Amino acid sequence: MIRLQNVCFNYDRDRTLTDISFHINKGEFAAIIGANGAGKSTLCRLLNGLLKPSSGSVEINGLDTGHTKSSVLARQIGFLFQNPDRQICRNTVAEEILFGLELLYKDREFIAERLEKVLSMFGFSAEDNPFNLSRGERQRLALASLIAVEPEILILDEPTTGLDYKECIEIMEIVREMNKKGTTVIMVCHDMEVVLDYAERVLVLSGGKLIADGETRSVFCMNDVLEQASLIPPQMASLAGRLGSGFEDVFTVEEMTELILEKSNEKRRVEV
Ligand SMILES: Nc1ncnc2c1ncn2[C@@H]1O[C@H](COP(=O)(O)OP(=O)(O)O)[C@@H](O)[C@H]1O
Ligand SMILES: [Mg+2]
Repeated sequence: MIRLQNVCFNYDRDRTLTDISFHINKGEFAAIIGANGAGKSTLCRLLNGLLKPSSGSVEINGLDTGHTKSSVLARQIGFLFQNPDRQICRNTVAEEILFGLELLYKDREFIAERLEKVLSMFGFSAEDNPFNLSRGERQRLALASLIAVEPEILILDEPTTGLDYKECIEIMEIVREMNKKGTTVIMVCHDMEVVLDYAERVLVLSGGKLIADGETRSVFCMNDVLEQASLIPPQMASLAGRLGSGFEDVFTVEEMTELILEKSNEKRRVEV
């Protein structure tokens, strides 16, 4: 579905991305992680065709982004900017959601149906002014506008930065729901707990290079990779790592609680 082959990219003389190759299948939920300046946002812009590779190729559903119009790619890919205010440009919630729909579709009835569907899914009032909404609500509105056109691929550049815990979960649960329905999701995220909870695959960027690509839990066990990318693993994973033998498969609070209860029950049984 998405295939990068030996992609290099430079904005000017300095190389921003070096020799990146990977393949993402339909329906995957992948996270891109790495320190600030590692090239994550640049990679997102290459994935949605806003930027073209300096060398190598990016293919979306078999279309080479170097030779495909952005408008054609826009039908397949929804791109959420880190800052919703770069996305929101209309005076009411309904107009904002209609903006993308009307660019892609002509059928009035179909458009009206989609608008109603998304308004009720997100619980928005059509006539609200987007700029009276909270930051979290504006992020939800930006996401609602993307979801209205039902893209096959969602690319999210730090969708939860600046949101509180509840707002973060609201956004992520909608994304999870879309993924369950078959949407391919690629998300840049700084919060390793969110990555662990939602992404099944992780790509690690460091200095413009892809230094790891694998199943989320196995990447969080690669201490050298995390160190090189200046990333701190989720707290439970790091505690489990320190506890060592017997705790290898522990990544979440629930798993830690379960294992400790199990161990203390065993101990009690032995004592009795
Ligand atoms: N529009 C631009 N022009 C020139 N250099 C840029 C531009 N955008 C980003 N860069 C540089 O490219 C590198 C990667 O940036 P970016 O992709 O934004 O990283 P990240 O999203 O991982 O923080 C940084 O060194 C940054 O300064
Ligand atoms: Mg960025």
